[in-house]
Amino acid sequence: MKRALYPGSFDPITYGHMEIIKRASEIFDELIVAVLENRAKTPLFSVDERVNILNEVLSGIPNVTVKSYGGLLVDLAMEEEAGVIVRGLRAVTDFDYELQLAQTNRVLHKEIDTVFLATSLRYAYLSSSTVREVASYGGDISKFVPPSVAEQTYKKYGQRS
Ligand code: PNS
Repeated sequence: MKRALYPGSFDPITYGHMEIIKRASEIFDELIVAVLENRAKTPLFSVDERVNILNEVLSGIPNVTVKSYGGLLVDLAMEEEAGVIVRGLRAVTDFDYELQLAQTNRVLHKEIDTVFLATSLRYAYLSSSTVREVASYGGDISKFVPPSVAEQTYKKYGQRS
C-alpha cells in the first residue's frame, strides 16, 4: 500500500495541479492533497476556503483525500504515514527551489522521499499567481481553473459576478 502526499499552497488550485493529482492518483494507492503554509506568500484564500475548493474539484477521484496542516511538511508525512512527497516540475526555473526543498525534507526525515512529475506542456506556463493576477484585472481565467474556482477567485477581487 503506497500512500503519497501532494502538498502545496493551492491558492487557488489550477488545471496544472489537477493534472498532477490525477496522474499521481494513478501511480499511488492513496494520495493526500494537503494545503500547507508557504511563509513566503500572502494567501488570497483562507486555508478552509482552499480545502473546500479542493474537496469540490477533486471529489471525482476516489483515492484522493484533502487535508490542511500548519506545520512542517515532513511532520505531516510522518503523521499520515506517507513515504513519498509528490511535486510537479514545470520548468528549470522550478528546479533550484524544488531540489532544495526535497533535500532539506530528506535531511529532516530520511524515510521520506520526494518524486517529481513533469507537468505536461499544456500547463507548463501556468501558476496560481498568474491566475490571481489575471483575475484581479477581470481577465479570462477559464483556461486555467475550473468554473467554480474562477467564480470564487473573481469574487475575491470584486470582478465579474
Ligand atoms: O505551492 P507551493 O507554495 O509551492 O508549496 C510550498 C509548500 C507549501 C509545499 C512549502 O512551503 C512547505 O512545505 N510548507 C510547509 C512548511 C515546510 O515544511 N517548509 C519546508 C521546510 S524547508
